[in-house]
Amino acid sequence: MDAPRHPAPDAGPARGPRPPLVPIERLDAVPDAALAALAAAAARHGFDSEALAEAERLLPAMAEAMRGPAIRAALAARTEPRMALARLFAYDDAVPAERVQALLGAETTGALAAAGLLEPAPAPRGAGWRARGRLMPFEGLLVWSDRPDAGDAAVMGPGATTQGAARLLPARIAGDVLDVGCGAGSFALLAARRGARRATGVDIAPRAVALARFNARLNRVTAEFAAGDLLAPVAGRAFDLIVAQPPYVVEPEGLGGVTYLHGGARGDAVLRRLLAGLGRALAPGGRALVVADLWLPRGATLHETLRAHLGDPALDLVTLAAPGLSAPIQAAAYASLDDPSLGERYAWAVARYLEHFAALDAQPVHAALVVRRRAHAAPEALTVTVPVAGFAGRDGRDVDQLLAAMDLLGAPDATLLRAALRASRHATWVEERRAPDPAAEARYSVRFERGALARDRELSGSSLVLAATLDAAPSVAAAVERWAAEVGASPAEVRDEVLAFARDGLASGLLVPAS
Ligand SMILES: C[S@@+](CC[C@H](N)C(=O)[O-])C[C@H]1O[C@@H](n2cnc3c(N)ncnc32)[C@H](O)[C@@H]1O
Repeated sequence: MDAPRHPAPDAGPARGPRPPLVPIERLDAVPDAALAALAAAAARHGFDSEALAEAERLLPAMAEAMRGPAIRAALAARTEPRMALARLFAYDDAVPAERVQALLGAETTGALAAAGLLEPAPAPRGAGWRARGRLMPFEGLLVWSDRPDAGDAAVMGPGATTQGAARLLPARIAGDVLDVGCGAGSFALLAARRGARRATGVDIAPRAVALARFNARLNRVTAEFAAGDLLAPVAGRAFDLIVAQPPYVVEPEGLGGVTYLHGGARGDAVLRRLLAGLGRALAPGGRALVVADLWLPRGATLHETLRAHLGDPALDLVTLAAPGLSAPIQAAAYASLDDPSLGERYAWAVARYLEHFAALDAQPVHAALVVRRRAHAAPEALTVTVPVAGFAGRDGRDVDQLLAAMDLLGAPDATLLRAALRASRHATWVEERRAPDPAAEARYSVRFERGALARDRELSGSSLVLAATLDAAPSVAAAVERWAAEVGASPAEVRDEVLAFARDGLASGLLVPAS
């Protein structure tokens, strides 16, 4: 036989053992009563997002393999029930058997052990239990998933990006909702909990569907789940809301792909196919929220790149774009999922990622895409990129307001004159003087909170008064009247000035439509 013309890609040092997957075969056998008792115990003992946030604050923003041992050590010294449950369910720690039994009850402990969800493990003083996978509090829900370092077949539960996306969703969700690439079901369960008429999750991995169904039962919410490629399992249906966090990590050659993590050599293979299909799957007036990290090629603009993937020219696209994590931080984080022992293979994988990132010649962007199919025909679709520092502190109201602002921006004068505008609730209006002399010339500016969907800017004194006039008026038309009186002109003379200022204010985030 001929020798291969190219050597096989370097597959790197052998991988050490990875944590076990959740055994999905016996999930159906866990009685409803045990699941209800588990959820009740978590609520009673305060094992919720707050407890987890408190534990996370012990060592934030560091790869899991590094901070895990430190968090476990810190929590082992804590006596509160919620921290014992955090150790057991979120931090892979063995907790003494009698403590677990006291917290969950003997029957629930037994049922979880019978299903293989708890396994015996030596604890510091005798026998203990350790969870298989993780049970994570998420927006008032509990979500059982695999550990992120459990290998190719791991099913992802709610992580930091899932949390960020959840905040950008409306507080009340109506209509038909689809969670694409649902993993352990986080977005579909959340939509059902927030009021969706029908919540559906789809995932390429049948294991994900099994875990998502289990989680629906655990949280007593009604949601449907199906296995298949992207939108194929729901072909022919149209949704009011679609949510997705596709796998977006680049896959260096030889590393071996992980379904929940990798999106091909550029990381965008699944994202591109998803965006291309959204037009058909959104109902009129429907909206999609897609969160992803991207590597934007040098010289390319984000909104042209994304618009090209979207295909359908009739869809509005508003992208919130924050700087992504640097290449070394991403390399360390993803390599540590490949080799959680941080051994020889970890070092090899870091080098593979770094080489791969360098070859991309691109910059990292963390993005939330809001795609909307208008309910009524619009003259031109919107394509807007809003630079933000991050998504912390943003919520669904900000996204609604942003879309409403974009609508008004493109509307005819008569529509804008009827609208009422308000100053952004994220702004601080600043007056500065170089001397403590009230007669000294002042500089005016508006500064936004970190992460606001707007950028700081200088203002003239008269712009500040005009912004205040618009903020106080019941409509832009009324502001035209008031401004005319203020400057001693006729409304017809100042109308264009006020409209131009209003549009500029909407475009820059200074002004928002009154809700
Ligand atoms: C990054 S995880 C997101 C999980 C969950 N939605 C969340 O945000 O926590 C990506 C998910 O997409 C799924 N996936 C990957 N390729 C897919 C495809 N072609 N069709 C459907 N799902 C896919 C993976 O199995 C994984 O569950």
